[in-house]
Amino acid sequence: MIIDGKALSNQLDVNMKQEVADLNATGLYPTLVVIIVGNDPASQIYVRNKHRKAVKLGIRSIIERKPADMTQADLLALIAKYNADDQVHGILVQLPLPKQIDETAVIRAIDVKKDVDGFSPENVGKLFANSHEHYPVSCTPKGIMTMLDHYNVNPEGKHAVIVGDSNIVGRPMGALLLNAGATVTYTHILTQDLSSFTRTADILVVATGVAHLIKAGDIKPGATVIDVGMDRDENGKLVGDVDYDNAVRVAGNITPVPGGVGPMTITTLMQQTIELAKVANR
Ligand code: GUN
Repeated sequence: MIIDGKALSNQLDVNMKQEVADLNATGLYPTLVVIIVGNDPASQIYVRNKHRKAVKLGIRSIIERKPADMTQADLLALIAKYNADDQVHGILVQLPLPKQIDETAVIRAIDVKKDVDGFSPENVGKLFANSHEHYPVSCTPKGIMTMLDHYNVNPEGKHAVIVGDSNIVGRPMGALLLNAGATVTYTHILTQDLSSFTRTADILVVATGVAHLIKAGDIKPGATVIDVGMDRDENGKLVGDVDYDNAVRVAGNITPVPGGVGPMTITTLMQQTIELAKVANR
């Protein structure tokens, strides 16, 4: 089965749009601030797509575009301004940041109550401790869990293999799958004989940024394959980390690129913005 993230995203939007309208009627206007520093082309596209989705759902979206030479002090001051603004419920600083800015300092500067990305040490701690409170989680892995659930892929007792150890995808993905009862193996760029791990995965999540790293022969027949890659092949075409055209014949379920994980990341961001707005107004 092809896991159609775009269709699922559009389906979830219907309920979210209604929920936002209902909140508006009570005087609550869920509001997201996205700060983008510099001109990274991929980031520009992500931020544009986030804004479009927010507008579609009736979520207030404020985009702050800042030059690549912005100082860290100025960025921290901008975050402080929105931390203090109780009309703002979520603050997202698009990563990566230019090298003069320390990402850790920026992530820690965002009010935990507005940490819509779930990147703060507090929210990461809750995830890894499998806390049963409500807290935001990195949107890409959270959106993947929503897709698995929707396609009736139950991680319980399954072997999940993660390829990629990033803070945004790989690490939180493993934690979510562990919390859902999977047996989790983390692999990454230093893993020797990667294929010997991926071939044992019932659920394989690949987030490396290496175009077509995973071939059909690296996949266990019938496995669920989730491709987080947004790479360019030698012709400049957008492709994933999985060699889709061949992998699709081996996998049981697989996400395409584009139209798989990407739309679900943005839908999850909107869900978490709404949730933070509701919590702030309880
Ligand atoms: N860059 C790539 N993915 C993400 C994300 O989920 N959040 C932020 N803030 N930056 C990103």
